Amino acid sequence: MLSKYRHRTACGICGGSGLSLILDLGKMSLANAFLKKEDLNKLEDKFPLKVYFCRFCSSLQLLDIVNPELLFRHYNYLTSASRPLAEHFIKMGKDLADKFVASPNDLVVEIGGNDGVLLAGIKDRSRVLNIEPAENIAEISRKSGVETIPDFFNLKLAEEIVRKYGNAKVVVANNVMAHVENLREAFSGVKKLINSDGVFVFEVHWVGNLIGEGGFDQIYHEHVFYHSLTALKYLVEGLGLKIFDVKLVPIHGQSMRVYVAEGKEVKKSVATLLQREKKMKLNRKETFVKFAKRVSKNKEKLLSLLKDLKKNGKRITGYGAPAKGNTLLNYLGIGTDTLDFLTDTTIFKQGLYSPGMHVPVVGPERLLTDIPDYILLLAWNYTDLILEKERELRNKGVKFIIPVPEVKIV
Ligand code: TMP
Ligand code: ZN
Repeated sequence: MLSKYRHRTACGICGGSGLSLILDLGKMSLANAFLKKEDLNKLEDKFPLKVYFCRFCSSLQLLDIVNPELLFRHYNYLTSASRPLAEHFIKMGKDLADKFVASPNDLVVEIGGNDGVLLAGIKDRSRVLNIEPAENIAEISRKSGVETIPDFFNLKLAEEIVRKYGNAKVVVANNVMAHVENLREAFSGVKKLINSDGVFVFEVHWVGNLIGEGGFDQIYHEHVFYHSLTALKYLVEGLGLKIFDVKLVPIHGQSMRVYVAEGKEVKKSVATLLQREKKMKLNRKETFVKFAKRVSKNKEKLLSLLKDLKKNGKRITGYGAPAKGNTLLNYLGIGTDTLDFLTDTTIFKQGLYSPGMHVPVVGPERLLTDIPDYILLLAWNYTDLILEKERELRNKGVKFIIPVPEVKIV
């Protein structure tokens, strides 16, 4: 039988045992395990959600590892449901093709390429291959004309791909390298795949944002690692690869786009970000302890605001049903007493109920006819776009509550 989760004791980056507990968010449902109405009375799986810091390699990570089969075989997250994200990846694909693809015969492989939005944009310029373990999403990717292997990426699969398709010129992995528990094996697989003259480019949420301008709600079981460049460099160099360029991009707050290869000249950007991380003391446990204290203050503040609003008879709904919203709702215990419904553009989520707190998810058109007084913006990473998109609602007097990093009403 499939074991649902296990507790690891060693650091997933350096293998050491110098781990300290930083933040305990309690036992929680899986952030993407939306429920059907008929399952609301069944017992939900809940797993510990605790974040640890490694004093040897400075990485931040979970040690309670949920079986990826449970997390990723059927997935409710569609990249194309968030327009800005889809546009960002389409542009990224084009930029990578301009920079690194020389002939239509070159192979570009994406690990966890979701609905194939990035690869579909460059399939006329190179051979493309998506490795997407979620069977429901792989199907959508295939329909967009992208060859897709519905499986998890690992060393064995990398070897098979090389045998069947040859080496890749570019390997891309966006919002995946935080999700892969066995990072050393994943990087070794990539190394095999790109051989000595390819590049590996990946985007991953930056821990500097998580503990600063971003929100703690980005912590959930799918995200095993909360990466800094400092910790990634330790890992990558240990495997005989080099980070040769990095930049911060405004995705999920702030993410790092990291460029890895075997033998390229290292750009100044790498030392600059490493220096910035040092200044931010991302290599010190105290930094994360302070962050944990802020999280618990933030919880009190948001709860007291919502309580006051309800006391004054206000109607509140949630905007977006992102995975991170479920961390927030579950950690704070916000359910249907507070929120009437969540609106989300993802068709898969509509008609379902949020994991743990069971708030119904409906389509965004609901807000045309059923207008609340306040909207809790769970998809806060798209604040600018959403405030602009919902100008009419705001003109009607509806207020948005931005929950993290500081509670704000706009
Ligand atoms: P993400 O932050 O992980 O990309 O998830 C954002 C969620 O919010 C996703 O389920 C789609 C949803 N969403 C909306 O409902 N409306 C919007 O305008 C945007 C940008 C996202
Ligand atoms: Zn470590």
